[in-house]
Amino acid sequence: MMGRGESGDGVNRRDNGGGAVPTAIRDDDHPRTPGTTDDAGSPGTTGEPDLGNPEVVAAIRAEIDRAGGRIPFERFMQMALYLPGAGYYVGERRRPGRGGDFLTAPELHPMFGFALARQVADCWERLGHPDTFTVREYGAGVGGLAYDILASLHVERPEVAAAVRYRLVEANPFRREQAMAAMREVGLAGQVEAIDPAEEAAAPPITGLALANEVADAFPVRRLVVRGDGPREAFVAWSDAARGFVEVEGAPADAGYAASLQAALAADGVTLAEGDRLEVSPAAADWFGAACRGVGRGYALVIDYGYPAPTLFSGHRLGGTLRAYSGHTVSDDPFRLVGEQDLTAHVDFTALEQAGRAAGAETVGLTTQGAFLASLGLGDWLLRLQADPATDPATYYQAQSAVFRLIDPGGMGRFGVLMMARDAPVSPPPMGFTESPPPF
Ligand SMILES: C[S@@+](CC[C@H](N)C(=O)[O-])C[C@H]1O[C@@H](n2cnc3c(N)ncnc32)[C@H](O)[C@@H]1O
Repeated sequence: MMGRGESGDGVNRRDNGGGAVPTAIRDDDHPRTPGTTDDAGSPGTTGEPDLGNPEVVAAIRAEIDRAGGRIPFERFMQMALYLPGAGYYVGERRRPGRGGDFLTAPELHPMFGFALARQVADCWERLGHPDTFTVREYGAGVGGLAYDILASLHVERPEVAAAVRYRLVEANPFRREQAMAAMREVGLAGQVEAIDPAEEAAAPPITGLALANEVADAFPVRRLVVRGDGPREAFVAWSDAARGFVEVEGAPADAGYAASLQAALAADGVTLAEGDRLEVSPAAADWFGAACRGVGRGYALVIDYGYPAPTLFSGHRLGGTLRAYSGHTVSDDPFRLVGEQDLTAHVDFTALEQAGRAAGAETVGLTTQGAFLASLGLGDWLLRLQADPATDPATYYQAQSAVFRLIDPGGMGRFGVLMMARDAPVSPPPMGFTESPPPF
């Protein structure tokens, strides 16, 4: 299990006074931790090749045939993850979690959400205590992070909790249903709504905070390969001989994009060499631009594994950062378990920032998760647990180990945290940006 040897629920969400933990949120079911392995990555044990979900495989093969023999890798990834009714992210089976394929920070420990609650409260103060403060959380899954944030605010900052309206923007209808069942169970349904992304895109701009944890990495990527005669793009074809999908190189589907990307990277001081591979996600940048435009007054906050472009496109990462996660093992083969394994690539924070600026947002800060959580006082909860005579040693050590993992500079602590503002103050720095991060 990826980095997880622990079993059971990370820490007691009840400790925070949020009432009973909603059944659907109770752990052993949701999270992921890809970025906690070395991002140079080492393929896990793959065993016998397994093509994956037959419906997804058939749909991709049909599309390849219709397209004359190949489709861009970006389209392959989009179908593998989001084919209606069958793709990896849209099916009924719950993917993140101890029993799933990977573990995310909110699933690792509720303290992550407790710390974020402080950032929510800080944003509310920076906006002048609005009567209604909307948190629009993208890719909210079953609502674990939302629950931890709300539970914490109700206990620590009831005046903020009273202003918060929480909108779970989640692509998967099963997750939306589970999230709302969970919120009803604990009496939070009155201030939470779960909404399809297309529907939310049409909603009026919010005063508040747009938030996304480990969502930007889930958007499809273009795979570009540097060649002497110009950039090439990875396409996916079907090989009867190999009895599976194979990668083929061709002229970029969007030649203008590839050329302008190379020029932009050169301007950022990125030197590329023959054979270097770059995964870029115009879809993630478009999504973040739209998320920023959806903030009328307030902030957009993205947490994910990735780097600014000059760091992302350097050294060993120029071998590509696309990884596949399944059953807590990691591989770099996207062509097995199609529709049954997560596909993800490191996030280009420079591209997100540029998209945010184009949407009229200003950069507030880019830091690491370790520095962000330290600034928000993550250690306070450990101290509280330590001081509480009711804390048993197992609970304490579990919490301590989670804190280390969340801030570990060699693991989740090096994730990036980008905050941008629209019509909202950028200085002094928000609470989560007061500690300086180590250099990326
Ligand atoms: C890796 S999970 C992260 C879940 C949660 N944020 C966490 O940290 O545990 C990514 C989630 O984003 C959702 N998702 C993917 N693309 C999305 C989109 N375009 N809009 C909203 N949700 C999306 C997936 O269904 C999934 O629940």
